[in-house]
Amino acid sequence: MDRITVTAAAGAYPVLIGSDTIESLGKEMDAATLGKRRILVSSERVWDFHGARFRRIGADKTPILIEDGERYKNLNTVARILDALVKAQADRSTVIVAVGGGVIGDMVGFSAATYLRGLPVVHVPTTLLAQVDSAIGGKTGVNHPLGKNLIGSFHAPSLVVADPVVLETLPRREFRAGLYEVIKYGVIADPTLLDRMRDSITAIFNREGDAIAPLVSASCRIKAQVVSADERESGLRRILNFGHTVGHALEAVTKYKQFRHGEAIGYGMLAALAIGVARGITPTTLYAEIESLITQLGPLPPVAAISTKDVIAAIGRDKKVVNGTLHFIAAPARGQTVELTDVTEKEIKAALKKIGLRA
Ligand SMILES: NC(=O)c1ccc[n+]([C@@H]2O[C@H](COP(=O)([O-])OP(=O)(O)OC[C@H]3O[C@@H](n4cnc5c(N)ncnc54)[C@H](O)[C@@H]3O)[C@@H](O)[C@H]2O)c1
Ligand SMILES: [Zn+2]
Repeated sequence: MDRITVTAAAGAYPVLIGSDTIESLGKEMDAATLGKRRILVSSERVWDFHGARFRRIGADKTPILIEDGERYKNLNTVARILDALVKAQADRSTVIVAVGGGVIGDMVGFSAATYLRGLPVVHVPTTLLAQVDSAIGGKTGVNHPLGKNLIGSFHAPSLVVADPVVLETLPRREFRAGLYEVIKYGVIADPTLLDRMRDSITAIFNREGDAIAPLVSASCRIKAQVVSADERESGLRRILNFGHTVGHALEAVTKYKQFRHGEAIGYGMLAALAIGVARGITPTTLYAEIESLITQLGPLPPVAAISTKDVIAAIGRDKKVVNGTLHFIAAPARGQTVELTDVTEKEIKAALKKIGLRA
């Protein structure tokens, strides 16, 4: 088992990674005196698969079950969680345990942040994306009909437990989507991750715990270091946005229906590398390496019919534009980043063409 500590303004918290960490969840919570009372929140789907694993953590017998999936990530669902907490008479001694993917984690985190002005939350992420990304860092929230993640708050968890065993039931496409974020960590901070992925791709696809745990561990370590240094994204945390400028725009213009987040980031990373190559700051070998790794993961949804103009417009509306300046993360070498603030529309257009947009 790996134990990583994240420092946050509200206090440090551990991230436990490895097989059977869920088995020790109850003991870990006892040791940290987390919650006289424990209430689990999950989705029907996740609970059907994995509910039995939580029998011995000393939680209320009936979990709160809500819909998951991006279209339910809204204030109505949060209201349902809050209603259930009120009905269950959750009080200040209660800890909320979120069991699910990023959608559950973001909504439960937000509910925990607001119920009684803040109860502790424990995250048990059940998708690869949630394990390597969303469960760590304290960002919580929901979508508004006019935009993704527009409503939210920072609420650092008290404990995160990432156990590869739950990933066995993850649909293949969801699993692959998480792997693109692992590639991101490889490019921005730890090239050994890229080597490891390439060398053990079969074991990874077979969901072998021994192959997956090190990927989760290395990715979490990077996310933990970055958010420990810059919880509120005033600088360093922006490196995590590598691939996300174009990626988010692709998701937005297709109304979040065509891509899983990670898939859009796959394209976004290639676009970011293409911009770097065109400027002469990114080695062509790095572009080729990442393109080949992404190809090995399997086909990405097509982009040819997506309008370049729409993507450019979406980038302009993105949160990464601060005071009119786009903060763009490029990769000058394996494991390194540089922030560019002068990327032009022309450069982005050329990169979009390179990744396959034709319209
Ligand atoms: N807070 C953050 O820092 C942060 C970072 C990145 C992404 N996010 C958010 O995360 C969300 C995406 O999360 P996601 O990719 O985990 O998607 P998700 O939560 O929608 O889960 C994807 C699907 O997998 C199913 N599922 C979950 N675990 C399963 C399991 N173990 N076995 C079988 N099925 C399982 C879910 O029911 C769902 O249908 C987005 O809303 C995004 O905004 C947040
Ligand atoms: Zn992402």
